[in-house]
Amino acid sequence: MMFGKILLFLVLVTTTAIGAAMAKNTYIIHIDKTKMASNLFRQGDSMQTYQAVIDSINKISLQEDDQEQQAELLYAYETAISGFAAKLSTKQLESLKKVDGFLSATPGKMLQLHTTNSQQFLGLQNGKGLLSASNSASDVIIGFLDTGISPEHVSFKDTGMPAVPSRWKGVCEEGTKFSKSNCNKKLIGARFFFKGYEANYGRINETNEFKSARDNGGHGTHTASTAAGSLVANASFSGLAKGIARGTSYTSRIAAYKVCWRHGCSNLDMLAAIDKALQDGVDVLSLSLGPGPLPFYSDALAIASFYAIKSGVFVSISAGNEGPFSSSVSSTAPWMMTVAASYTDRTFPAVIKLGNGKVVEGVSFYSGDALTKPVPVAYLESTGIPESIFCLGTLNESLVKGKIVVCHGDNEINPYLKSENVKKAKGVGMILVNPKFYGDELTANPHILPTAGVGYTAGKYITRYASTAKKPTASIIFKGTVYGRTAPVIAAFSSRGPNSVDPDVIKPDVTAPGVNILAAWPPTTSPTERQADSRSVLFNIVSGTSMSCPHVSGLAALLKSVHRDWSPAAIKSALMTTAYTLNNKKSPISDVASSNLAGPFAYGSGHVDPERAVDPGLIYDIATQDYLNYLCSLNYTSSDIGLFTDGAFTCPQNIAFRAGDLNYPSFAFNFKGVVQNGSLEYKRTVTNVGIPTSSYAVQVEVPEGVSVIVKPKILSFNKLGQKLSYKVTVVGKSKTSSHSSFGSLTWVSGKFRVRSPIAVTWQ
Ligand SMILES: *[C@@H]1O[C@H](CO)[C@@H](O)[C@H](O)[C@H]1NC(C)=O
Ligand SMILES: *[C@@H]1O[C@H](CO)[C@@H](O)[C@H](O)[C@H]1NC(C)=O
Ligand SMILES: *[C@@H]1O[C@H](CO)[C@@H](O)[C@H](O)[C@H]1NC(C)=O
Ligand SMILES: *[C@@H]1O[C@H](CO)[C@@H](O)[C@H](O)[C@H]1NC(C)=O
Ligand SMILES: *[C@@H]1O[C@H](CO)[C@@H](O)[C@H](O)[C@H]1NC(C)=O
Repeated sequence: MMFGKILLFLVLVTTTAIGAAMAKNTYIIHIDKTKMASNLFRQGDSMQTYQAVIDSINKISLQEDDQEQQAELLYAYETAISGFAAKLSTKQLESLKKVDGFLSATPGKMLQLHTTNSQQFLGLQNGKGLLSASNSASDVIIGFLDTGISPEHVSFKDTGMPAVPSRWKGVCEEGTKFSKSNCNKKLIGARFFFKGYEANYGRINETNEFKSARDNGGHGTHTASTAAGSLVANASFSGLAKGIARGTSYTSRIAAYKVCWRHGCSNLDMLAAIDKALQDGVDVLSLSLGPGPLPFYSDALAIASFYAIKSGVFVSISAGNEGPFSSSVSSTAPWMMTVAASYTDRTFPAVIKLGNGKVVEGVSFYSGDALTKPVPVAYLESTGIPESIFCLGTLNESLVKGKIVVCHGDNEINPYLKSENVKKAKGVGMILVNPKFYGDELTANPHILPTAGVGYTAGKYITRYASTAKKPTASIIFKGTVYGRTAPVIAAFSSRGPNSVDPDVIKPDVTAPGVNILAAWPPTTSPTERQADSRSVLFNIVSGTSMSCPHVSGLAALLKSVHRDWSPAAIKSALMTTAYTLNNKKSPISDVASSNLAGPFAYGSGHVDPERAVDPGLIYDIATQDYLNYLCSLNYTSSDIGLFTDGAFTCPQNIAFRAGDLNYPSFAFNFKGVVQNGSLEYKRTVTNVGIPTSSYAVQVEVPEGVSVIVKPKILSFNKLGQKLSYKVTVVGKSKTSSHSSFGSLTWVSGKFRVRSPIAVTWQ
């Protein structure tokens, strides 16, 4: 079942899940200003120009029907598309379509948020390599579209930071409990956007929500500190995950753009936020949210991101938490960095000992010793109330009191409701069992009573024991923080490829830490974001592709500080071609959902490796025109492509573009409809950024069912910046039993290994 359309990618989100909500009568209107009638056009003032358009529409609709509500201008967009957002009736939209310069109307949509030691896990060491003093002196600005920020948080202190760069044009907008003095040299900008949200949900209730950039939910504070939080000694969540908290690029500046409110995030507001962020001067955009898979022309984030990368701004976005189902990955535009989520080597074990002697390992954020003695176990199957085994609804106190209750998890109900129900019925602990599709996933949540999460297999055993034993009992020992686990492992919730929008590009692109991540949290928001929870914490442990995305945003900022002249595509290439696919035990990375090996549809090119990415040897660069040609290859109409170019665009007639020819750092060969022994040929061009005189030889790991020919097999460079091209031909020999097979193509020269995954699909 799908949630609303743009999701903040926080796994097991604590806010209520809202059904797919189409914002009634709000639209993003794309306008070609050069075609507008002169009586409407106001030189240099978009707001007045679009107001004139709206006024003219209102005049018409008044003549036709005086009951009609007035059309209302919500935003004028300048940088991320040219156009505006408005509240319109269907009739008013029809009149608008007749206005000269009208290009298209995209309906307003509501999206949802998708939801520490991770820095060491990335191989970043203080004072060394990318975090050496010279590199740290940089001034990269990361913009976050999220739930806002908790400005007083110790992670956003600006001690020792140099003055705000003079190129910065952003502001610190005042609002509820937010004043200009809340910004400093770390948090250099804060804005909030709500017109699209209010057009859908009515006025924001200011008694329970800050109408300002101040964070209510905690998600925005967590993501911003993950990417760029300052160093904080002694950070922990009630003693767990203790250590120095720091953002990936802890010297970077933060600009918070609040677009997500209680019930979600409006695409109108997000477009307005990116529009402002580009004018303000951000270098990196971090988007821990996204729509489901959408064609690029109807995805406001994909469109706005295209304007961002055109002006050199790197865009990192979460892949989504709709895994492990295939083709679930969202935000698949090739100009965005789409980030999957994986485990680090850190875990929080809870050892469950059942009355029959069986020992099962789970995971928990509980750090006390409350359940070390065996207590009775309840599994509410016999009550005849189906929701009781999920611990939903009112639980029977006489069955629960003093017991550990076994509850089934699910993917959309608030998990904290379960522990609250158990607590209300005077239970003393909870064992939370994964649904089957999450397999042996072990993400923990900060429940209000001692809770151990267990995988599906262990859960099956425990429920059988609890329903068949005469007097089932269990004890739980909470082991605190343990390091050195096999990692990375792909999280079950992380959204998967293949890319359903365009199978010729592998998505996601990379994976990064996204499970059990410790980062800053507003002390005014409880760790479960629930009223029944009175705890106040400075750091919280959360999981989701929402958490992996800011790690990559921070890495992009670090690379940008070292390579000022690299394009967003070059930074992306460097992160992708140096990513690794073996875990810390030197075995291929596995997938927790299936316990099988993970592949490019789970992790793209692999796990990011920052210290290698800084010196990748070769890069696959992509220019704006290449992306436009790519859109032509998808057979988009010229008005669809016009969305990306601010005006009419005609695809070159005499050239047949193929999507697979985009100079992407990975390869997806789709043999659907290709005859047996048919072949697909892709061209690539690499730029030398390593050693001036160097020679690269190709190594191919051939996917099952095909043969691969690379021409030439050697690339010899004699200067930096030199570009050389090669061709890859893949011949489909025989269809394999599975729908896809994987391999890789690597250019090798000395220490450089420039690796691209190859994914072959037959469907
Ligand atoms: C606003 O929220 C408060 C506190 O939750 C509630 O009592 C009040 O009824 C709400 N007001 C509206 C207009 O919904
Ligand atoms: C860290 O916390 C411990 C107690 O948990 C305290 O004794 C110590 O002084 C703290 N260190 C710093 C640097 O704050
Ligand atoms: C609660 O469980 C007890 C014991 O099985 C049973 O007698 C009672 O009817 C139950 N109460 C409700 C409200 O179902
Ligand atoms: C685009 O159209 C061409 C010519 O009709 C066709 O060969 C190609 O498969 C189409 N591509 C896509 C992505 O639909
Ligand atoms: C495909 O090629 C193989 C040899 O490479 C040949 O044996 C087979 O008959 C060919 N199949 C078709 C359908 O052409």
